[in-house]
Amino acid sequence: MRDTREAHGRDGADRAADARINRDLWRVVNEQYTDGQAADRWRSDAIVWGIYDIPEQQVDVLGDVSGLDIVELGCGTAYFSAWLARRGGRPVGLDVSEAQLATARRCQQSFGIAFPLVEADATAVPLADDSFDLVLSEYGASLWCEPSAWIAEAARLLRPGGRLVFLTNSVLVSLCVPDDEGPATTVLARGQHEVRRIHWSDGGVEFHPGHGELIGHLRDNGFIVESLQELLAPPDAQRHGYYEIAEPGWGRRWPVEDLWTARLAGPT
Ligand SMILES: C[S@@+](CC[C@H](N)C(=O)[O-])C[C@H]1O[C@@H](n2cnc3c(N)ncnc32)[C@H](O)[C@@H]1O
Repeated sequence: MRDTREAHGRDGADRAADARINRDLWRVVNEQYTDGQAADRWRSDAIVWGIYDIPEQQVDVLGDVSGLDIVELGCGTAYFSAWLARRGGRPVGLDVSEAQLATARRCQQSFGIAFPLVEADATAVPLADDSFDLVLSEYGASLWCEPSAWIAEAARLLRPGGRLVFLTNSVLVSLCVPDDEGPATTVLARGQHEVRRIHWSDGGVEFHPGHGELIGHLRDNGFIVESLQELLAPPDAQRHGYYEIAEPGWGRRWPVEDLWTARLAGPT
């Protein structure tokens, strides 16, 4: 049975407090890493997913995005939105971090790709109902926001029949990373209820609901789940240059990332 403690126990003030913690974290990550690597991601033409750069052709979740109104919730430096804009999509990038959006703006100018960027919390989005065909999140709201709240916003923003595509860490990897630094081990370091909302000692607040709970939130908000792909590291995977969540050897045996697709009920 679905555990609804999170939905009953927390309110908008709690979510705003989480957003402030994560905005502070992403100012630092932007300085340390993303500002430096954003141009490479923008320059690349291929759409790839997650820390092991799994090609879109392999997972086949996006389809033809040409002419679609798209919002990316937690867009960061907005390279994913740029990839979709190059394919004829009409993205809006939304993020709570001023620093990340400043990098995105600079990349827009360098690469001559313009689309709206909105500074806001993905659990309280200042955009109109029924105004998008695709809601996307690649390690954005899907990881950093309370699922009941951001999924409700995704449903509100989508037109009937619209699609939600998101990537986040697997529940399993979030159970296996040590409390102090370092990649996942083969020890379960904490209980599953502890990662539904976890404030890591070195940084941000993340949300890792179990699959059953997540399906409950999707269904409650009118979504039909289309697919869940539990991504394994490819045979030739390299260690990620910044995110040390799992070594490639771990990721070849167990999924580090979950890639979900769902459709809002209504005409397609
Ligand atoms: C790993 S990045 C993902 C974005 C993009 N795919 C990338 O890698 O640059 C996570 C982003 O989520 C954003 N974020 C965290 N909490 C948020 C919230 N409450 N609302 C909107 N964005 C949020 C952070 O500011 C950060 O830019």
